[in-house]
Amino acid sequence: MQETIKAVHLDHQGTLSDTSSFSLAAAQKVQAFHQSFPDYQETPLADLKNLAACLGVKRIHVKDESYRFGLNAFKGLGGSFCIASYIAKKLGVDISELSYEKITSPAIKEKLGPLTFVTATDGNHGRGIAWTANRLGQKAVIYMPKGSAEERLHNIRKLGAEASITDLNYDDTVRFAAKQAEANGWVFVQDTAWDGYTEIPGWIMQGYMTMAYEAYQQLQHEPLTHIFLQAGVGAMSGALTGFFSSVYGDDKRPIITIVEPNKADCIYRTAAANDGTLHVVKGDMDSIMAGLCCGEPCTIGWDILKDHADHFVSVPDWVAAKGMRVLGNPMGDDPRVISGESGAVTTGFVAELLQNPSLRELREQLQITEQSDILCFSTEGDTDKENYRRIVWDGLFPSF
Ligand SMILES: Cc1ncc(COP(=O)(O)O)c(C=O)c1O
Repeated sequence: MQETIKAVHLDHQGTLSDTSSFSLAAAQKVQAFHQSFPDYQETPLADLKNLAACLGVKRIHVKDESYRFGLNAFKGLGGSFCIASYIAKKLGVDISELSYEKITSPAIKEKLGPLTFVTATDGNHGRGIAWTANRLGQKAVIYMPKGSAEERLHNIRKLGAEASITDLNYDDTVRFAAKQAEANGWVFVQDTAWDGYTEIPGWIMQGYMTMAYEAYQQLQHEPLTHIFLQAGVGAMSGALTGFFSSVYGDDKRPIITIVEPNKADCIYRTAAANDGTLHVVKGDMDSIMAGLCCGEPCTIGWDILKDHADHFVSVPDWVAAKGMRVLGNPMGDDPRVISGESGAVTTGFVAELLQNPSLRELREQLQITEQSDILCFSTEGDTDKENYRRIVWDGLFPSF
């Protein structure tokens, strides 16, 4: 397959899909739950002033999720909020009544009895589920697709979960985990939705809002012009697109661009076809962006993206590698952001877009000017340290 930067734009007309699950009030409720964790801390928002000046735009901010809950990625936000919402429903109470302290109390544990949470993951989501189950004194079973990094497997096992690498690709691992849940009476907590499976992924998506709401507060509600979000199944980008559309209003919101690897660009393909059906990528998706190697879009994520996101971009692996180097080697006194493959791709794309003369037309389509005020999310740190060093030290995946 020819690796290249591809982009498509979607126009929005008529009635737009409902974003009320991602409103400011909903985000405040989610953040209040996360704030009850003893290890909750707002993650830093890096203001890359020198990078912005060098690339010829007004501002570039990068939200650094490597600091999230000591898990080196944003994903624990979704896992913890969905498990808490599941427990709240089981107990017949509102999530606002369930703080970390309550949820981990012996009284609640006794009421719930033993639970096993099961999921498929390419690393970060499973680590978040294992971490939450561990805090609750419950069990987690985690399945990973073939080719998953040993380091990511060990990080999940260290949290007491039963974790294994299967012989299947990501989407087949999801189906396998669902079957295991059904056969064993376990609670299936997957970070993607399909027809008939929406409640749990809906809670997971709401959980992701904490990072968007923090960024919104850190920016003091300053109106941005552009937001770049990476997508695997599109649940995270769907949630954040819903949040920003809801808080800024669709007529005033920043231009939202979704970025995916060429090798797993199911959202891009769905947007490009724009025929009312979901388009999938099959087979082994061997991109270095392991967290984004998902071939089947999340139905409820796409529902938001199709009406509230503007551009859909598919990029080669070297774009992520470039982002890792740009963020790891700050200019002047800009803060350093240690960003893994899936975390760095949006910044890598922004840097390439602003530097590469052959992308002038795309730059114009995206309406990037020297007044642009850009926000990217570095959704993970060096979750595969060996690969991080191979790319950043040894210069693998150069952009020429
Ligand atoms: C680091 C990282 N960034 C982004 C994503 C994309 O999230 P989604 O699959 O909801 O699109 C993932 C998914 O696992 C991830 O691990």
